[in-house]
Amino acid sequence: MSDPSPTERLRAMRERAEAGGGEAAIARQHEKGKLTARERIELFLDEGSFIESGRFVTHRCADFGMAERKVLGDGVVTGHGTVEGRPVFVFSQDFTVWGGSLSGAYAEKICRLMDQALKVGAPVIGLNDSGGARIQEGVVSLGGYAYIFLRNTLASGVVPQISAVMGPCAGGAVYSPAITDFVCMVENTSYMFVTGPNVVKTVTHEEVTSEDLGGAHAHASKSGIAHFTAANDAACLALLRRLLSYLPSNNTEDPPLRPTSDPADRADAALDSIVPQDPNRPYEIRDVIRGVTDTGSFLEVHAEFAQNIVVGFARLAGRPVGIIANQPAVLAGVLDISASVKGARFVRFCDAFNIPLVTFEDVPGFLPGTDQEWNGIIRHGAKLLYAYCEATVPKLTVITRKAYGGAYDVMSSKHIRGDVNLAWPSAEIAVMGARGAVEIIFRKEIAASDDPAATEARLIEEYRETFANPYKAAGEGYIDDVIEPSATRFHLCRALDILATKRDTNPPKKHGNIPL
Ligand code: HXC
Repeated sequence: MSDPSPTERLRAMRERAEAGGGEAAIARQHEKGKLTARERIELFLDEGSFIESGRFVTHRCADFGMAERKVLGDGVVTGHGTVEGRPVFVFSQDFTVWGGSLSGAYAEKICRLMDQALKVGAPVIGLNDSGGARIQEGVVSLGGYAYIFLRNTLASGVVPQISAVMGPCAGGAVYSPAITDFVCMVENTSYMFVTGPNVVKTVTHEEVTSEDLGGAHAHASKSGIAHFTAANDAACLALLRRLLSYLPSNNTEDPPLRPTSDPADRADAALDSIVPQDPNRPYEIRDVIRGVTDTGSFLEVHAEFAQNIVVGFARLAGRPVGIIANQPAVLAGVLDISASVKGARFVRFCDAFNIPLVTFEDVPGFLPGTDQEWNGIIRHGAKLLYAYCEATVPKLTVITRKAYGGAYDVMSSKHIRGDVNLAWPSAEIAVMGARGAVEIIFRKEIAASDDPAATEARLIEEYRETFANPYKAAGEGYIDDVIEPSATRFHLCRALDILATKRDTNPPKKHGNIPL
């Protein structure tokens, strides 16, 4: 038989590269309900758009018999393609090759991709499914991780970085997804932890399963590490595509417009009666968000974590916006540590990527108590304040009901560069609620009166008349207008129009010192 022609040799090598860890390993991957690295890329990108680079890369390890064992591509598939026609860079870890473990050469592939993404200004999407450091390579692998962490950090705020966790992600490997902007975990097949159940048992004597310790649900609801969860690989990849539709490709671009048939002046009559007469009765803030934004456009982020604040992306007349909303239906919408951190990170992401902020405010204040104080509600609450203060994107605020105390200042008030601040007639803008205020300032009068209960009730009513409304604040110019709730969409769309050319900057500095 004659030698293969150069083209035949190329084709054979391509086939070998595409076979990854081989049929048996691919079958095991499928048995676990997981797609392969290449199947994931195919599903994620626009059809036929993937351009691979580095498919012939192999590791350089000679220890433990590795010199004789090489797999083309070395366990990670890297390249670029498009999502809805816009370029993105993607790496996909191939669990069928040494458990997707990371070698020096593998890390270099990811780093080259990240360097290029930064130069051209396109998002980086990482599909993670890996047993961690390639044990045979030792410190070379650890160094490889560090090179990636450095690039994650340098790219932060320049191009969006999104991580899907679709299999194991343990040890220091967790820190790359953690630095990226968004993490989506696949239910039942993925986990993230610094140390697994065996080490936990040895060190703390706790018995815990991988799923309970670091599964999708644990990180979505308890730690907040996961912004999203998905039922399977396909749902996860579809979600990442949707997420990208709200984001610009880099920090110098505006987010993409999506034409909508939903009229900008559409009124939603249901909003006129959504706030209950009783100030202590809850209502669902997501109904307000959905009623105001373009039909079907709301994508909630961190839906399971710190549910007393709701954050997510939506569109107003086709323009992407970041929504931050106190949720009166959970803990009365109070700001606690988790809600502050969740809100702050989202505000900073939007500001970094030119996405206007729309805040819906109904907040009784910060959560009191030793647990919150000793765990640093002052420091963490300051993060949310800092994030809003430094943000220079258009900032729109709608006070639907309570805007009490420090939380009034924090939630995108006029005083910290809110651009358009609106209130519903049900708004109560005050240092605190009427009852609390009366108990403090009229304690002696109430005690001295013939009928303390009646006196207290009268004073509460008087206080409410005077302060529990939007007109004191509007009289000071702190509120631009008091609007009918049903017309909120119209007002916000008009505000976004005028603010589309907003320019604002912060003083030059190396970087600020956000209270971490
Ligand atoms: C080299 C690895 C590997 C690794 C798995 N493999 N992990 N090879 N380095 N880290 C190989 C296995 O030897 C096996 O090869 C194949 O991948 C599939 O692994 P299985 O164990 O058969 O798969 P499964 O039962 O699904 O278990 C997956 C796993 C387990 C839970 C990930 O493999 C595992 O615990 N691996 C070690 C994880 C680990 O300790 N990594 C280092 C953590 S420290 P064959 O040839 O048999 O098919 C770390 C630090 C990062 O990552 C630091 C960053 C700063």
